Amino acid sequence: MSAAPSQVLPQSQSEGMSQLVDLQVATSASTPVASVDHVARGRWLCSQLEAANILFFPHAPFEIAPNDREFLLGRTQTSSALHKNVAYRPAEDRITGLAKSEEQEAARLRVILKTYSQNATRFLGELLTPYAGNWKLDFASFRPLEERGRPARLHARNDLPHFDSFPTRPTNGDRILRFFSNINPKQNRVWATSQTFEAIGPHFAQTLGLPSARSNNPVARGLRDLAKAIHFPGARRSPYDDFMHRCHNAMKEDATFRETCPKQRWEFPPGSSWMVFTDSVSHAVLEGQYALEQTFLISRAAMVEPQKSPIAILERIAGHSLSI
Ligand code: SIN
Ligand code: FE
Repeated sequence: MSAAPSQVLPQSQSEGMSQLVDLQVATSASTPVASVDHVARGRWLCSQLEAANILFFPHAPFEIAPNDREFLLGRTQTSSALHKNVAYRPAEDRITGLAKSEEQEAARLRVILKTYSQNATRFLGELLTPYAGNWKLDFASFRPLEERGRPARLHARNDLPHFDSFPTRPTNGDRILRFFSNINPKQNRVWATSQTFEAIGPHFAQTLGLPSARSNNPVARGLRDLAKAIHFPGARRSPYDDFMHRCHNAMKEDATFRETCPKQRWEFPPGSSWMVFTDSVSHAVLEGQYALEQTFLISRAAMVEPQKSPIAILERIAGHSLSI
């Protein structure tokens, strides 16, 4: 089975939309790591990601042990605490999102998510040679809830097309790359994507307005440094992060946009994996239950086509830097 689009758009409408790059072959085994071909292939795959396309692996590129998967699939029947996503923080080697009473499960979940996080990191490091090591390993997550009809407040709804922006983890122009695995044995995970950031970002820049240039006088700079040093709330958030957060909210709030934006539906079958830059692929999850995910914050400097990054697009429009 593959993630063929279930609604094929005519050519004219597919312009500015994310495309699927179907990687049938077990990629890591196809060319020896460190060969010229392997490096060239890595660059090509990165350029596809940076063009806001979806890298799709019909067969999981690394194994999730069957007993671990069984454990994950069994959680919602037995555990009241597992009514939300569970996050794993690799830097602290700990999980969040579980109740205190779930300590035994927490220990097992931590090991499973840690293994997933390490496997995903090794796989991406070998595959995406230009990015390897040029990233900050962000959180991994286990998503045990049925997404169809899942109640959430408007800004937290993931069934409405949006670009990701994390208010608590500003990126300052670095990129949000996410690797997903559908571990459900029967059910597809269904996404809709709309226009890419390159296609629709300038529209939001115009309607929402971009931050004006920050004053460069020594007093203003000194105050900013001081705010950062004393961890003043928001001091680490760049003008870029502010804009992306406003954009994320505006996309979800705007009923006309939500309803009229072009949409492409994708079905990710059981056992498949996929990855996208979620800050340039506008995405929504419509259906599906039980997924694992690892997020990487990739350095802006590691892009093979830096001019396609959302921050570069916005800085061209603004005419000044949006980073700090
Ligand atoms: C999202 O990042 O908006 C959700 C994607 C998913 O859980 O499939
Ligand atoms: Fe998202």
